[in-house]
Amino acid sequence: MAVDLLIVNAAEVLTLRDLGPGPARGSKQGSLGIVRGGGVAIGGGHILDVGASDRVWREHRHSGCEVIDAKGGVVLPGFVDPHTHLVFAGDRADEWEKRMGGVSYLDILRQGGGILSTVKKTRAASAEVLLGSARRFAALAIGSGTTSVEIKSGYCLDGEGELKLLEVIARLGQVLPIEVVATYLGAHVLAPEYRADREGYLELVERTALIARQRGLARYFDVFCEHEAFTLEESRRLLTSARGLGFELKLHAEQFSASGAARLGLQLGATSIDHLEYLDDETLAELGRAANCPLAVLLPAVAFHLGLDRHAPGDRLVAAGVPVALATDMNPGSSFTPSMPMTIAIACRTQKLSVAQAIVAATYNAAWAVGLGERVGCLEPGRRADVLVCDVPDHRWLGYAFGYNPVSVVVADGRVVARGGHLLPAA
Ligand code: NIG
Ligand code: FE
Repeated sequence: MAVDLLIVNAAEVLTLRDLGPGPARGSKQGSLGIVRGGGVAIGGGHILDVGASDRVWREHRHSGCEVIDAKGGVVLPGFVDPHTHLVFAGDRADEWEKRMGGVSYLDILRQGGGILSTVKKTRAASAEVLLGSARRFAALAIGSGTTSVEIKSGYCLDGEGELKLLEVIARLGQVLPIEVVATYLGAHVLAPEYRADREGYLELVERTALIARQRGLARYFDVFCEHEAFTLEESRRLLTSARGLGFELKLHAEQFSASGAARLGLQLGATSIDHLEYLDDETLAELGRAANCPLAVLLPAVAFHLGLDRHAPGDRLVAAGVPVALATDMNPGSSFTPSMPMTIAIACRTQKLSVAQAIVAATYNAAWAVGLGERVGCLEPGRRADVLVCDVPDHRWLGYAFGYNPVSVVVADGRVVARGGHLLPAA
């Protein structure tokens, strides 16, 4: 395979090699496989070689290949954002102000606001409008280094509307230069017209799941197991029937209360259990002992956005042997950021992850959380060439510095798609 892109002169190339098989757990969670003074050779959309910059240059340089000078920066795998709600209409800045004034997230939802206020606006929006706005947020994410993203439906709730959202997500996969993984989240909250008919809504979710599956519109099925959303038993029923339809499973688990959803995820063989702010010690230990432990997808930007001081125990999860991933949870209500670098910076502070653990969580382990663990997430020959160049002198700056975008070049599938935070027009 001919080399068509060379990245040279990196102070550090974070290869994240040899972390498998499967998600990185325990001490492997913090292993970056650093090559100092490194370079990367790319061809045909794949990583071809990684090693000392001089050698990579000598062996692969030819007149037709594009060269990126990393200028003493850090090169690493592209970020995988394994939990977002990127397709929605409107914003919730008014509610955010109320929240900062002390009103709780669940109280706003109870009063018919929160997720339900986004549902009202999203139902009224056309697929074109939703596509346009999601594309703008996705462009910001890509400029910040996201090269694969999971996107959930969940802001229409009625059958037709949820399928409309899944179709928008499929179109995003066609128009964006990065990989998009779709999740059906009809079980986000009860649709308002079903307030008095929970059984009717559960059946609607099951019927819509079947259609989504038949049309190949979603790989994952997710449920929000929480007060004001779905009970543990309802979640079990929906997840079990979704599994029967061939979906892989995800849960919004233990976000505002200890609901038992994390254990349910373990029992049902879920791919990931997400949030975990209220995870109890016993379940944490049980997860750590399990051979088939789901990925713990932590969403540290949520507590930051909502101004809460309850955090998922990132350090204790890693110590117990639970594989940890990080995601933005980008959505208009609980986490209005598409930035994985910002998410890493917060995780180091509030989830108590080391910066190396956070980087593995945002790349290699995040890839496993969306079924891409064999294809992306590390810089080993043969992997898809999703690669970032960051304008920082060493990897610690990815946690140390925050609030600006450290990513200067984004390579997705072997092509440069963003520079200086901006998606290139051709991308
Ligand atoms: O992951 N918890 C439920 N769902 C989202 C919030 C969605 C919203 O508030 O619009 C979450 O935090
Ligand atoms: Fe979420």
